[in-house]
Amino acid sequence: MMRSLRVRAFAKINLELRVLGLRPDGYHELRTTFQSIALADTLTFTATRGPFRIECDDPSFPADHTNLIWKAAQRVLALARKREQPFGVTVRVEKNIPMQAGLGGGSSNGAAALQALCRLWKVKATREELHHAAATLGADVPYFLEGGTALGFHRGDLLVPIDDISPAWVVVVVPEFGVSTKEAFAWWDASPRRNPKVSNDLQGVVAKRHPVVSKLVRALNKEGAFHASLSGSGSAVFGLFSRRSDAQAAARALAGPRTFVTPTLSRAACRRLAAK
Ligand code: C5P
Repeated sequence: MMRSLRVRAFAKINLELRVLGLRPDGYHELRTTFQSIALADTLTFTATRGPFRIECDDPSFPADHTNLIWKAAQRVLALARKREQPFGVTVRVEKNIPMQAGLGGGSSNGAAALQALCRLWKVKATREELHHAAATLGADVPYFLEGGTALGFHRGDLLVPIDDISPAWVVVVVPEFGVSTKEAFAWWDASPRRNPKVSNDLQGVVAKRHPVVSKLVRALNKEGAFHASLSGSGSAVFGLFSRRSDAQAAARALAGPRTFVTPTLSRAACRRLAAK
C-alpha cells in the first residue's frame, strides 16, 4: 500500500475579474481569467494508524475540520460511498501561499487533497465526480484541478481552459492585512461600480477600504509591469513582466516584507511539477 505522497499546490492570480450580477444563490455571476503561478504550498500525505491530522508550522493555519483539506477528505470518502469520517492520514502542510490574499491557497490545497487522497485511498472517481466534489468545496476549487490559463464563468466554477498565455514573470505583493472574499463581495453589492480601465471589478471597492492597493498597482505600473491588478478579492496585488530581471528589480524597488517573484505556469507545467 502507498504510505506517503507529496504534492505541490500552486497559487493563482486573476488576470481579469468581472462581476456580472448577483445570483439567486447569493453568489456572484463572474467572468474571470485564472492563471497559475509557481508560488506553491507543499502537502505531504502519510498513512498512519491514528486520527486524520493536519499539521502546519503556521499557527494561524486552521488544522481542523473547517480546513478544505479536511473537507476534501470527507468528499473522497463520500465518493467511495463510505460513511465514516476521515481517519489514518497525517497531512503536513508547508504553507508558502499567504492566506486571505486572493491567491487561492485554501482552494488549491483542497483540490490537491482531493486528488492525492483518491490516489492514497485508491478511490476511482470520474473527472465529472471530482469536478463536482471540488465545486462543493468552494467556487474556485475546480480551477485548481486544471491549472494554467482558464476562463471561469458562473461562480467561477464553470471552466473553459484556453491556450496558455506567453510565459511571464509575476511580482506578487501581499500587504499586511487580509481580505475576506465574502466581505469584498458585500462591498461590491453596496456600491457596484465598474471602471473599464481597471481589469478587476473588486479592486475599486477593496482599494476604497485599503488605499494601499491602488498605491501598489500604480507602483507596479511605474516599475514597468505590462499589466498590474488586484488578484481575486485581494489583498495581494500583482504585476506582470516579460523579463525576470525586470521583475526582480521591481520587487526590490517595492521592498515589502511579503513580495514574491514567481513565473506563470502553463497547464502542462502544473501537471508536471505538481508531483515533485
Ligand atoms: O466559494 P467560496 O467559499 O470560496 O466563496 C467565499 C465567499 O465569496 C462566498 O461565501 C460568497 O460570499 C463569495 N463569492 C461570491 N461569488 C462568487 C464566489 C464567491 O459571492 N462567484
